Amino acid sequence: MLFPDYRPRRMRQSDAFRRMVRETVLSPDDLILPLFAIGGKDVKNPIASMPGHFQLSIDHLTKTARAAHEAGVPAIMLFGIPDKKDPLATSAYAKDGIVQKAIREIKNRVPDLVVISDVCLCQYTDHGHCGVVEKGIIDNDASLDLLARTALSHARAGADMVAPSDMMDGRVAEIRNVLDENDLSSVPIMSYAAKYCSAFYGPFRQAAHSAPKFGDRRTYQMDPANGQEAIREATMDAEEGADILMVKPALPYLDIIYRIRQELDLPVAAYHVSGEYAMIKAAEEKGWVDGPRIMLESLTAIKRAGADMILTYFALDAARALREG
Ligand code: PBG
Repeated sequence: MLFPDYRPRRMRQSDAFRRMVRETVLSPDDLILPLFAIGGKDVKNPIASMPGHFQLSIDHLTKTARAAHEAGVPAIMLFGIPDKKDPLATSAYAKDGIVQKAIREIKNRVPDLVVISDVCLCQYTDHGHCGVVEKGIIDNDASLDLLARTALSHARAGADMVAPSDMMDGRVAEIRNVLDENDLSSVPIMSYAAKYCSAFYGPFRQAAHSAPKFGDRRTYQMDPANGQEAIREATMDAEEGADILMVKPALPYLDIIYRIRQELDLPVAAYHVSGEYAMIKAAEEKGWVDGPRIMLESLTAIKRAGADMILTYFALDAARALREG
């Protein structure tokens, strides 16, 4: 492999050659679109830091879900914005909660679209933490039952898959048990296995009204400095019954995606999060970068690192761009 016998440029000289040796090909099948459900009718509140995204009432949500399905996106991830919050997040597991209603309506209208529900308490607790708070501390074990009840109520409403994002220890096993005991053993769990305590979630917390009212999430989300720990987290979740392991955020954590892909034998999802989206959109609006190219390059890089699927606010745009070629 030495110059001049080997010339890497030979296989780059035409589009056809480049296509023949391309190692990573992005497809709409790889993408999952996150959406925000809110109560009311004909509500479409723009999310300022995420141009093109909205808090959507269920009537609009079903339209966007249908558009995603038509663009070839196989799945959406649903987040709810409830109208009331309390210390025990009761609207997270209410039968007629916002996510439960949205799931039923979308599964009715667009049955072939996979509906994944985010399972967490932070949008539903008045303190904004992802678990139960006792004397200012997030109580791990007291949170498990509420998380499992939330997952169960989503699955009962028709969610095709549940995705716990709270980062409490032991929640995958708890959710798996409760689903199995309730004849829902066919519902898979996509675990937010390596979820970092990241500033890249800023725009999401504005969109979902889920910022913690005191402190931060460092006692449950992972320290961005740690890589080995992500392997332990992912191994535990796999042993507890996770079907898909997620890494979040994506681009700043490509090494983690790569390592989990190498060391574990489950499908890997990467969450290209709100801040990653917002930065690209802001730079594009300023005319500083070519937005559509950065979008596809970023998603291709995430897939190249080892992600089998990517949750991204670009899902609809990217799927359309890929179809147009
Ligand atoms: C809820 C949750 C968050 C995100 C997904 N689920 C916010 C957080 O942990 O504070 C972030 C998604 C994004 O930034 O796009 N726990």
